[in-house]
Amino acid sequence: MSQRQVVSFYLNGMVQHVMPVSPTQTVLQYLREQMALTGTKEGCAEGDCGACTVTEASLDPDGRVVFRAINACIRFLPTLDGHALWTVESLSSGGRLHPVQQAMVDHHGSQCGFCTPGFVMSMYTMYQNGLTSPVREEVLDHLSGNLCRCTGYRPIIDAALNMGNYPEARLDLEQIQQQLFELQEQCQESLCITGTDQRYFAPNSLDELAALYEAHPQAVLLAGGTDVGLMVTKQLRTLNEVIYLGAVVELNQIERDDDCLRIGATVLLNEGYEALANEYPEVRELWKRFGSMPIRNSGTLVGNVANGSPIGDTAPFLIAVQTRVVLRKGARRRELPLEDLYVDYRKQNREPGELVEAVLVPLRSADIQVATYKLSKRNDQDISAVCSAYALRVDQGKVASVRIAHGGMAATSRRAPHAEQVLDGQKWGEEAVARAMQALENDYQPMSDMRASNAYRLKAARNLLYRFYLESTGTTDTRI
Ligand SMILES: Cc1cc2nc3c(=O)[nH]c(=O)nc-3n(C[C@H](O)[C@H](O)[C@H](O)COP(=O)(O)OP(=O)(O)OC[C@H]3O[C@@H](n4cnc5c(N)ncnc54)[C@H](O)[C@@H]3O)c2cc1C
Ligand code: FES
Ligand code: FES
Repeated sequence: MSQRQVVSFYLNGMVQHVMPVSPTQTVLQYLREQMALTGTKEGCAEGDCGACTVTEASLDPDGRVVFRAINACIRFLPTLDGHALWTVESLSSGGRLHPVQQAMVDHHGSQCGFCTPGFVMSMYTMYQNGLTSPVREEVLDHLSGNLCRCTGYRPIIDAALNMGNYPEARLDLEQIQQQLFELQEQCQESLCITGTDQRYFAPNSLDELAALYEAHPQAVLLAGGTDVGLMVTKQLRTLNEVIYLGAVVELNQIERDDDCLRIGATVLLNEGYEALANEYPEVRELWKRFGSMPIRNSGTLVGNVANGSPIGDTAPFLIAVQTRVVLRKGARRRELPLEDLYVDYRKQNREPGELVEAVLVPLRSADIQVATYKLSKRNDQDISAVCSAYALRVDQGKVASVRIAHGGMAATSRRAPHAEQVLDGQKWGEEAVARAMQALENDYQPMSDMRASNAYRLKAARNLLYRFYLESTGTTDTRI
């Protein structure tokens, strides 16, 4: 396999060929310390505050340019290979502010200014994607990853709503597409960066990736890096071997056949959830409350499943609808029900060197009712205290099948076999549901932590089951 050592990308319209200081050097470190582009700020260094937001562009599988707001603080520089990036320094031209900046000025959207470049870049990304005159809901969605301690947000939201009221200043899409195509041509060989004690591989075919991971089972797999990035920026770990999945085009695919939706390992959270929501509109709220826009623009849906956190938001729903995972080790593939992947806390039914290639989500059957609920202290950018999911089939008033799964209630995302058993074959009514709510205590002994106490978690899980019952039977008042 022939290999490259140098990362190639566009920065503010200029092509760069860079040898990273280390394979886990972050984009933020590169911008501020190497390029003196200090408009991009560091607040939290963990993807939470948005002060480091920059705009990235890449080609989607159909060759279209897609702009995404990302957090530079948790993104490793080599993953920019073949992409384009813009920072706040590039926006004004000929002494004139960009419409996004002018709108911020005119609507008094900045006070101390620390968050301002991040907000501006989130708005700029919307603007470049053609959302120049967004509606309020779109603005809130796109600004979900930006925190401001000064303004109270209203002036910033007003600025975003009004950024289309200035002379148009979008980038030349055809030119960027051409640049990215040319870059892709130059980036045909796999990227392999070796430092003194660190190695970074970015194979560009699935076979190469599978063989590499089988040969280096101790390596850390890197997908979107929204978990892995924090190992470096927060846990201050040195990752000696990293294998990046993002250059494997075959993994960035969503396929729909007669039975299922196949979501590949590098499909981003936003795209993966969109496909899920087309099949199961009930996941839409969970999608929009998952992390923030920049997190969903970097993180992958399979990364959330493979990470296997007991408080991951995607697994409960996928378990409830009987999702299977495709595992790959070298040339061998096998499939497992997702629930069987999780053995214990951070322990999975995966061999060393075996990766998750895709998830297979069954298509919706007409007679199924589903729901998933996320309970967290904040609406956006927060981790669940409890996340629940249900898939129910009722036949002639009786429960023909039911699957209930939770995150936040045990060491892994897990089903509730006792509650399910209580409901099985029973009339789908208050009496059986009340007994199932009680039975949840046999399924889970949740822990207490800073998100919630064990008593709160159990009570919440019971009440969420009741909420599902009320909603599934058409009762509109779900206050409990
Ligand atoms: C600010 C912030 C907010 C967040 N909010 C949420 C939230 O609301 N809900 C939630 O559930 N999570 C949340 N997360 C966690 C994270 O965003 C998700 O878990 C995300 O889906 C991880 O995907 P990734 O592609 O970034 O994974 P990575 O960070 O690249 O990898 C995650 C883990 O999975 C492994 N891995 C990745 N891909 C594979 C594969 N194909 N096969 C085997 N192993 C693999 C990696 O080695 C690593 O251990 C948040 C994180 C941050 C920083
Ligand atoms: S510095 Fe806070 S999100 Fe990056
Ligand atoms: S203007 Fe001060 S943090 Fe937003």
